[in-house]
Amino acid sequence: MKTVMVIYWSGSGNTKTMAEAICKGIEDAGEKVILKDVGSASIEDINSYSHIALGCPSMGAEVLEEVEMEPFIDSIQDLVKGKKILLFGSYGWGAGEWMRDWEERMRNYGADLIADGLIINETPDQSGLDECTEFGKQLANS
Ligand SMILES: Cc1cc2nc3c(=O)[nH]c(=O)nc-3n(C[C@H](O)[C@H](O)[C@H](O)COP(=O)(O)O)c2cc1C
Repeated sequence: MKTVMVIYWSGSGNTKTMAEAICKGIEDAGEKVILKDVGSASIEDINSYSHIALGCPSMGAEVLEEVEMEPFIDSIQDLVKGKKILLFGSYGWGAGEWMRDWEERMRNYGADLIADGLIINETPDQSGLDECTEFGKQLANS
């Protein structure tokens, strides 16, 4: 059995809700999952796992949250090469530019993104939650 690490930042809870649905998919696939707020995550949590989901909403002006998530992503750039990674996050009024930039950045770090980033407008509805669960399964099975 593998363990999948899920690390997220969420201000108003939407990306956290996505993270929890992704965790359900990982468990449905029969694998173990560890869920952490980025504030309690360390680079060891990246070093120790081969399958990782990273979540952050679109903040600022189409950027990652700048106090915790941005420095965390910066700190793991040499650690993600070859790892199976799923990016996800909620957004508001934009068109998903933050996620396109984040995908490109992670690919440049050598991450093996299992799919394009999963983005959901504001609070996920039932079909959004189902999509998160599916992506969780896909990561667990990758
Ligand atoms: C300070 C701030 C900046 C934001 N900037 C953007 C943005 O540039 N583009 C966008 O689509 N949504 C933006 N949003 C909307 C959030 O991405 C959206 O509300 C999201 O659902 C928040 O996710 P969370 O509940 O996980 O924090 C912003 C929200 C806040 C509070």
